[in-house]
Amino acid sequence: MAIKFTEVSYQYSSPDGSLFDALKNINLDIAKTGEFIALIGETGSGKSTLVQHMNALMKPSSGQVEIYGIKINHSKSKKQKLTPLRQKVGLVFQFPEYQLFEETVMRDIMFGPRNFNISKEEAKQRARKAIIQVGLDESYLERSPFNLSGGEKKRVSIAGILAMEPDILVLDEPTSGLDPKGRDALIDLFTLIHNTYHKTIIIITHDMNIVHQVASRVLVMREGELVFDGTSEALFNNESLNKWNLEEPDLIKMTKQLEQRYSISMRPFPKNIDQLFHHIKDVI
Ligand SMILES: Nc1ncnc2c1ncn2[C@@H]1O[C@H](COP(=O)(O)OP(=O)(O)O)[C@@H](O)[C@H]1O
Ligand SMILES: [Mg+2]
Repeated sequence: MAIKFTEVSYQYSSPDGSLFDALKNINLDIAKTGEFIALIGETGSGKSTLVQHMNALMKPSSGQVEIYGIKINHSKSKKQKLTPLRQKVGLVFQFPEYQLFEETVMRDIMFGPRNFNISKEEAKQRARKAIIQVGLDESYLERSPFNLSGGEKKRVSIAGILAMEPDILVLDEPTSGLDPKGRDALIDLFTLIHNTYHKTIIIITHDMNIVHQVASRVLVMREGELVFDGTSEALFNNESLNKWNLEEPDLIKMTKQLEQRYSISMRPFPKNIDQLFHHIKDVI
């Protein structure tokens, strides 16, 4: 197991001294390879807090996170060497502003690899590859990250993590603020990385179509608790969907309406329009 959460809780403390339970007793196992996980839940449910525990950016208030055999808990000393973990588990922040700070895009993307003792030449090469991977061209490398649009900043921050070549890629709302074409291109990139290198990908998203189409496993957070951990098929069969304020993807809505109308069963749920047609062509 690459990452293991055991009874992890986390409290934020406010300036007035009060505590807020952002994570409550989380138990969770994540494999090194093969998983494509969607992490979903309402805003404020604890998703960003949870993923920052996956590369030891945050330490649990109680319980333990084990990452590649290194145990992280509240009592661990500050001297613990965490750099190797950050290379193995690459985290792209929800807000790219947290991640971009160098003068040029090139230097920003090189920063991660350089931190892990990759040579300057190799880091440059990786930056050139990564900028293309995220759908920008090499002219961006000489620009300042601060003069880019929100979507471009997002892509540069993703390129910076790709250039570290992590085992596990954790992306906090990577497609928010992108147009549909940009969104689809990024999802295709993550799927390609997943299929080619069998890396585990964890993506936080509010887009239920993404959840349905690409995730092999879905985690649902609600008020600091992990309330669901299973396949997307099981999620869309789950009666609590409404209670968790989650929308059904368009294709699932359509499928359920057709099932009712023609008194048929179309399980497993079709993943795309072609599969939907295949299901119904004998019936109507
Ligand atoms: N630095 C902080 N100090 C106090 N409370 C915080 C802080 N960061 C987040 N929170 C609170 O913790 C809860 C979970 O936040 P977060 O993990 O960002 O949720 P999500 O990513 O699901 O929107 C929210 O109620 C949020 O207001
Ligand atoms: Mg968040």
